[in-house]
This record gives sequence, structure tokens and C-alpha cells, in this order.
Amino acid sequence: MKTYQDTFADRFLAAIRETIPAAELRHEMLAVLAEAARVASPWRAPLARSVELSFQDGSCPMRLESPLVLAAGASKKAWFLPAFASMGFGAVTVGTATMRSRKGNPLHPRVRTVEEFGAIQNAMGLNNPGIQVLASRIARSRDRLAQDGLLVGISIAEDPDLLPDESPDRNLLDCLAVAWPEADYIEINLSCPNTGHERLDRAWDRIRRLMGEVSSFREAQTTKKPIWIKLSPDLTEETLGQALASIRQAGLTGAVLFNTWPATQGVWPSGEALPELPELGRPQLRGGLSGRPLYPRTLLGIEQARRAEPGLSYLACGGVETGLQASELREAGADLVQLYTVMAFRWMAARRILQEWPQDRI
Ligand SMILES: Cc1cc2nc3c(=O)[nH]c(=O)nc-3n(C[C@H](O)[C@H](O)[C@H](O)COP(=O)(O)O)c2cc1C
Repeated sequence: MKTYQDTFADRFLAAIRETIPAAELRHEMLAVLAEAARVASPWRAPLARSVELSFQDGSCPMRLESPLVLAAGASKKAWFLPAFASMGFGAVTVGTATMRSRKGNPLHPRVRTVEEFGAIQNAMGLNNPGIQVLASRIARSRDRLAQDGLLVGISIAEDPDLLPDESPDRNLLDCLAVAWPEADYIEINLSCPNTGHERLDRAWDRIRRLMGEVSSFREAQTTKKPIWIKLSPDLTEETLGQALASIRQAGLTGAVLFNTWPATQGVWPSGEALPELPELGRPQLRGGLSGRPLYPRTLLGIEQARRAEPGLSYLACGGVETGLQASELREAGADLVQLYTVMAFRWMAARRILQEWPQDRI
């Protein structure tokens, strides 16, 4: 059910969705629109809602100008990053990046909005220009990012199309090494449901080894930056608990809860049947779902995680549309709140969420 009332600007956004039905094109335009909004309204002051975070794994504390983070996938190319500060974000997670550039899934369209649910179906397949290109774009924005008080994290994943003689662990660690100098924090994406490959978050023995190697890499660096592991919302409470215990044992910072909901489930997280979904990206692939129907799962996930592993740090992600929800997630134990899909449905969603968020509850 819709949790906010449409304004005139939201209806304008709906008209844009109708006029430009190519959702991937609209997705590409997000950064350009952010920059246009920044240039057109230079007087727009950031909404000061700063948060300070410290972490039990001993990684360096973070100070953000806003507890809202633009979730991975929205800035796949790291264009116009500083513009997101004036949109109400305290950080942007760039990527997901892989070591080599990727075109993603071959068949278009790969993204579509599911209007009646306030949702997006996506099977882009980790398209990105490669970590070297992204890292150098971030490096070029560093001065402006510092001036505007925006942190930049990098989401990384192993390349799903490795040759048989290439080591997946080595591939991810090489990507991490290039990302490291330019990232304020790292997210490791173990849960992409739409590359057409086996999901990594089902191979827990491998992941435990990999997280150990990531942790050793971090120990060898001069700055201990936070590292969150991004998990899938379709894990059972027991598997989620095991995954979080492994993150703690590896000495990493915490988890991003969650990635998109895999359409292979056939139902929404509530158990209600999914609508008819077309194939996207590749034959027989229906990819991942994001947006409004994910919110109850996100809240439950944060509550389950806080009970299971209270010492880890959690970033809530999935279906957040209002300030009340964002504040509910923070109270349930999320350090930060990530958004993406709502940007397609609510005009200037992050700023409005900050305005709605009771100040004494940030
Ligand atoms: C078009 C699209 C592309 C995405 N790409 C990525 C990605 O590359 N890496 C990732 O970790 N998550 C990706 N996501 C998932 C989001 O980061 C987020 O976990 C999910 O959309 C739930 O949040 P939301 O309901 O606020 O959108 C993508 C989501 C969408 C809609």
C-alpha cells in the first residue's frame, strides 16, 4: 500500500515515466538531473542532519551529513557524484564495479517499472565501465566531494564471466585493491540475482574463505575502512544468522540488508503472488525486484540481524519511501538507510524523506 500522498511534482514524475517508457534511459538520466538541479538552484542549502558512526570491528568512524545513502546500482558510472549531496544524500555507493568492464545482459529492455506496486524489475547484469575507470572518475571529483560533504563507497563483485583458469577470489581482491584508495567504504555484493550465474551467497564455505582474505587485505592497509557485505532478502532467519556470524568471525564491519528480491521466488516477501513478469536481459531471466513491497522484509531483516549479531553495523536497504520508515529502521538498529527505487516515484525523494524524518529521532 502506498505510504505517502502524491504531490504535483510526483505526478510530473509519473508523466515523465509515461513519456519516456525506457526505464534504463531514465536510470541513466538520474545523475544528469541531479547535476541540473544543483546548477539550477545553487542557493539550495544541504539539510543538515549529520550522523556519526563508530564500529565494533575497529574500522575508522564515519561522519555523514545525512543518514541517507544512494544505494548501489543508481550510480553505475560515477557521473556527477557531488550533485547527490544537494539531493539529500550523505553518501553514494558507486557500482557494482567489477575488475573488467561489463556490458551486462544482452537483451533490452533490462529494467522496467511495475507501476501498481511502486517497484522496479531489473536484470541489468552488473554493467559497469570497470573499477579502474570508476576509481579515476571518483578521484577527479575528490575536491568537490570534500567541499560538499559527500562520502563515496564502492560496491564490488567478482566478475561472473571469468575464464576457467582465473581465480574468482583473486579477481575480487584485485578489484578491492583498485577500489580501496578511492573509497570511503566498501560494499561487497554477494547477492546479485541477475547475471544468469549461480548466486555467490549460496556458497558459504567459499565466502567464509573470501571474507577472511578481504579482512587480511584490510589489515595490511594503513586505514581500516568499513566493509559491509550485501545480502539477499530471501535468506531464512537461520541462514541470515549464519551469514552474519561469518561476517563477525571474519572481523568485517557488517551487512547491507538487502539487495533486490529474486523474482524466482514467485511471490513477494509478504507471500502474495508476484504479478506476471516478462523475461528481461536474457531468455528465462526475470531478475530482481525492488521498491515498496520490500519494506516489511527490510524492517524484519534489521530486527532479526540486531538480535542475532548486535555488534555488527547494518545498512538498511529495500522499499524505503518515507521519513517515518527511515526513522523506524534507525530505531530498529540500522546505522544508515539506503534508497534507490523511490527516486523513480517521488520527486526529490531523499530531501523529502529528510524533511519528514522527526529531527529528534535521527
Ligand atoms: C536498476 C537497478 C540496478 C541495481 N544495481 C545494483 C548493483 O549493481 N549492485 C547492487 O548491490 N545493488 C543493485 N541494485 C539493488 C539496490 O541497490 C537495492 O538493494 C534495491 O533496489 C532495494 O532498494 P530500493 O527498494 O530502495 O530500490 C539495483 C537496483 C535497481 C533497481
